Parts: sequence; C-alpha cells; structure tokens
Amino acid sequence: MVDLRSDTVTRPSAGMRRAMLEAELGDDVFGDDPTVNRLQERAAAIFGFEAALLFPSGTQSNLAALMSHCQRGDEVILGQEAHSYRYEGGGLAVLGSIQPQAIANRPDGSLDLAEVEAAIKPDDPHFARTRLLALENTIGGRVLQRKYLGEAIELARRKGLATHLDGARIFNAATQLGMKVKDLCAGFDSVSACLSKGLGAPAGTVLLGSKAFVGKARRARKILGGGMRQAGILAAAGLYALEHNVERLAEDHRNAGELARGLAQLGLPVEQHTNMVFVRLPDADAQPLFRHLEKQGVTVLPGPRMRLVTHLDVDAAGIERALDAFRTYFRK
Ligand SMILES: Cc1ncc(COP(=O)(O)O)c(C=O)c1O
Repeated sequence: MVDLRSDTVTRPSAGMRRAMLEAELGDDVFGDDPTVNRLQERAAAIFGFEAALLFPSGTQSNLAALMSHCQRGDEVILGQEAHSYRYEGGGLAVLGSIQPQAIANRPDGSLDLAEVEAAIKPDDPHFARTRLLALENTIGGRVLQRKYLGEAIELARRKGLATHLDGARIFNAATQLGMKVKDLCAGFDSVSACLSKGLGAPAGTVLLGSKAFVGKARRARKILGGGMRQAGILAAAGLYALEHNVERLAEDHRNAGELARGLAQLGLPVEQHTNMVFVRLPDADAQPLFRHLEKQGVTVLPGPRMRLVTHLDVDAAGIERALDAFRTYFRK
C-alpha cells in the first residue's frame, strides 16, 4: 500500500512505540507527568520560546491560541486558505466568539500586507476590535520566506496586533529554507507546531509562547477538553519524533520532487511544494483514476486538483509504484 492522502497517515515506528511503552508517566492535569514536561521544555528550547504546551491536536492548539490572544468580540486577520479559518469547523467563531477577517491568499500563500493593514479596524464601536494577525507556514505546502514573516511581524507590532503562526508543518518550511525553526519563527507571539504530520507521532501538537501566554492557553485547553492525564505516552512519541524525524524531512521533499517529475512526464500540470504535489486532472478522469489507483494499492483523495503528500511511510520504491499506477492509467 502507498498512502498519499496526507502526512498524517503514518504509523508509529517500532522505536517510537518502544519509547511510548517505556515512558515515565504522571498526571499532566496536575502538571506532574515528567515526559510531558520534558517534551514541553525541549520544544520551548528548540523554538526559542519561554514555554510550550502539549495539545492532542493542531485544531485545538490553534483554537486555544486564538482564544488566548482574543476576547469575545475581537477579530483575527487571516488567509482565506488558512486552516484555522477554513478547515477547523469555524471553531474560532463557534467556541471563541472571535470574528475572522479573511483576506485572499496570494498564489505563493502569503497575504498582501497592504491589504492586511487596510483591514485593521479603527477603534470605533461600529467595528470588532482587530487584535491578531495569524499566518500559516507551510500553507498548502508553500513556504513563507523569513523576510516576509519579518515584515508581517513588524506591521502587526506597529499596529498593536499580536501574531500567531500555524506551523503545523513548520519543520518542512525550515528544512526547505535550510534554517532552524527558532530563527524562522522569531518574533511571533505564538506558534503551533504539529508532531503528528511529517514528524510521525500518532497525535500531539505543541503550542509555543511566553509563560503568561501559555498560562492562558492552559486554561483554554481545559475549557476545550484537552487536559489529558497520562499524556506522557504521547509526549514520548513527540520527543522521539523531534529527535529522529526532523532531518529526514528532506527525503520527503526529494520523494515529492520525483513524484512531480514523473507526473509531469505524463503531460499533467503539476506543482510541487515541500512534501506536497498537486496535479490537475481532466474532470472526467478524477473518479476513474481514483478507482484505478486504489486497485493498484495507491490511496489518494479523489478530486480534480489531486493533492499527493509524501511522508516517512513512503520510500522511493513506493513513489515508483505510485508513478507506475499513474502510467498504466494514462497510457492505457
Ligand atoms: C496547516 C494545518 N493546521 C492545523 C491542522 C490541524 O491539525 P489536527 O489535524 O491535528 O487537528 C492541520 C491538519 O491537517 C493543518 O494542515
């Protein structure tokens, strides 16, 4: 089986499972799970923040961050394509009473900072209070450059806004840029980084920020039902992931490059960004191709703009098998 639906489909490796089995545990709601505490300290050091907090999911981490930055009736500026705007069930409005001000993402995934500035509301009772600028890196696999991030942070500071980065795949961005995440994320007030995507943990996201911010986020996490007890089992997987699965992300990017090249040779319009490949298919082919690939043991999400994602459970041979399955369909 070659599963290209997402980098979330990975199964914990034998080494990761062993680390989970052997984890020293406590009750993290009481703050005494030593493995959770170690993960949080390690993550804070890697990202260069005062503190970190473990969440079960990226969705909850983003929502807790937004709820910690914004009060009821406050506004966040973010992209139309932002995960926390588009793919998190509207949680910021449903549970946070936060108003989203969405701005179209440019083709490279960034927001036009002049548009961001124009969207910031003046202090007037007619308007929601604009409090936060939220960006995402990578976004649809695309990397936002450090220079752009610095300019966005500078604008937010000048306008008195806080900044949040959804860094679900921040290690992919850092790998692509050849930077440390610490340098790439410098200046953000908070960063959410998933352990369960390219890093291969079964669950878990860390939220980074100042001690005061993480104190607020801990309260939001409890309200959202994310206080976990012997969470060291998950934290052990996260620690293992940070230790063993960061450097190898370059291999996922290389595999995505091979996949993109092979698909382009079939005459298909292809884009590749980090570990994601997007291929545009003739409408009539989307469903039959999906069924053909499935029969060949290649799992994808169907659609006319098919997204294929590489990860640590797909090696170069798996990419070749996937390409063979595409070739037999298009050369039938
Ligand atoms: C950019 C981004 N942010 C946040 C999330 C949410 O993560 P989770 O699935 O752990 O809730 C995802 C999940 O795919 C994502 O791609």
